Amino acid sequence: MTQHLTAQNGAPIADDQNSLTAGRRGPVGLQDWHLIEKLAHFNRERIPERVVHAKGSGAYGTFTLTQDLSRYTLAEHFNEVGKQTEVVVRFSTVGGEAGSADAERDPRGFAVRFYTKNGNHDIVGNNTPVFFLRDGIKFPDFIHTQKRNPITNLKDPQAMWDFWSLNPEALHQVTILMSDRGIPLNYRHMNGYGSHTFSLWNKQGERFWVKFHFKTQQGVRNLSNAEADTLKGIDPDHAQRDLYGAIEDGQAPKWTLYLQVMPERDADSYGINPFDLTKVWPHSDYPLIEAGVLELNRNPQNYFNEIEQAAFAPSNLVPGVGASPDKMLQARLFAYADAQRYRIGGNYNQLPVNCPHAAQPNHYQRAGAMAGGGCPYHGAQQESGVNYGPNTQQGPEQKPQYAEPPLAVEGNLDRFDRFEEENVEQAGNLYRLMSDTQRQALADTIAATLSQVTAPVQQRMLAQFAGADAEYAERVAQAIEAVRG
Ligand code: HEM
Repeated sequence: MTQHLTAQNGAPIADDQNSLTAGRRGPVGLQDWHLIEKLAHFNRERIPERVVHAKGSGAYGTFTLTQDLSRYTLAEHFNEVGKQTEVVVRFSTVGGEAGSADAERDPRGFAVRFYTKNGNHDIVGNNTPVFFLRDGIKFPDFIHTQKRNPITNLKDPQAMWDFWSLNPEALHQVTILMSDRGIPLNYRHMNGYGSHTFSLWNKQGERFWVKFHFKTQQGVRNLSNAEADTLKGIDPDHAQRDLYGAIEDGQAPKWTLYLQVMPERDADSYGINPFDLTKVWPHSDYPLIEAGVLELNRNPQNYFNEIEQAAFAPSNLVPGVGASPDKMLQARLFAYADAQRYRIGGNYNQLPVNCPHAAQPNHYQRAGAMAGGGCPYHGAQQESGVNYGPNTQQGPEQKPQYAEPPLAVEGNLDRFDRFEEENVEQAGNLYRLMSDTQRQALADTIAATLSQVTAPVQQRMLAQFAGADAEYAERVAQAIEAVRG
């Protein structure tokens, strides 16, 4: 027998098809509280979409450690070969709205949450090891150039190239974005990178700087511009369909996690600023160390509850893993939880996808909208009446053994001129690694939109390409001529 249809208060509903009306032809009576509840709830079904990375897909799975990392970190999930930790992962595009096509030329978000016994650890990265910027103060301006023009409400190549032409630190990431790796085939066939430098510390109190790399075991595959254009039309949700379908079919996608590890003292002498997000550390300097396998094997039961309301944050750190002085990372440590308090609500960490699954939250924060939420793990939240600390009532206590080793800092508090940094060398190195066909595809893709912008912007971009490699600039100039016919 089917269950009763009920209202939100659990009361059985006799008629869900006909409003309560005075006479056969109406009008409708205000006492039809079921109708009012239904319409009122419907009006509140949407929450603000993420200000960036609005379109995405996600799934649960496991992380299995294949190499003990205790010499670098005391983080619980990185100790003991064979240990398995539950994960949730969300992939995304960046600039488009929640309903935009999956096949856009855009970086892809790659956000991983480890539900560890010492709390949730999030690595909120992209499918590229670098980013367009090295200072978070520039992020809102950059994103405005990726979104719609405030007057035309159209995507705006002039704004995009104008910004990049005035911010040469973007060239490395622009070169990746415009290359044949710029449109991943889907989410399974791409790598993920923590991108920033993070810190690890071990039981002896030694600190290491680390970069996280998730390499796809499905192989890296990408779409050409023509293939992507076709897909956008016939199946704008192709990456969601692919991920969901693969998991339903039992083909769990996997990634191998590698680390690049730099002893703390190397940071001062290494030629590359390790806290500059526009730069990679060549593997010849810091080789990849295999750490474990990430597998996605369980689809969410409710997309909105578990993926739309997932709140990943670089500030979700656990003992043994910390931040670094990277200016972009520092801005992100603030931005995500702040965005989520607005997007989801102050108690967003009580939702099942966001609350710790393997750790018991014990703190003195209380009340607020929707307090007492639905975390099904480890019993109800914050049952204790003690809402202040310290106390003499057996409330939770701080534990100094979890303290991060101190970080030495020096210098004046100031705004340092970013133009003093080196910008184009690694973009040139990447260009020189490309085959002739790849170089031409890069130049053609750039020219398709750079040909639409004003001459001064083009000139500034050509000067940047020339700084990276003279041939890079020549090819783009020729490709622009070819577009103009
Ligand atoms: C999402 C801000 C740089 C990767 C977001 C969100 C904000 C934000 C506010 C939406 C969060 C939410 O509503 O849940 C910023 C700021 C940045 C920055 C201020 C620079 C200072 C980056 C970088 C990366 C990145 C460098 C990658 C290396 C992501 C990802 C998401 C995201 C993957 C989506 C997470 C998810 O799937 O829910 N960002 N971001 N962001 N950002 Fe950033």
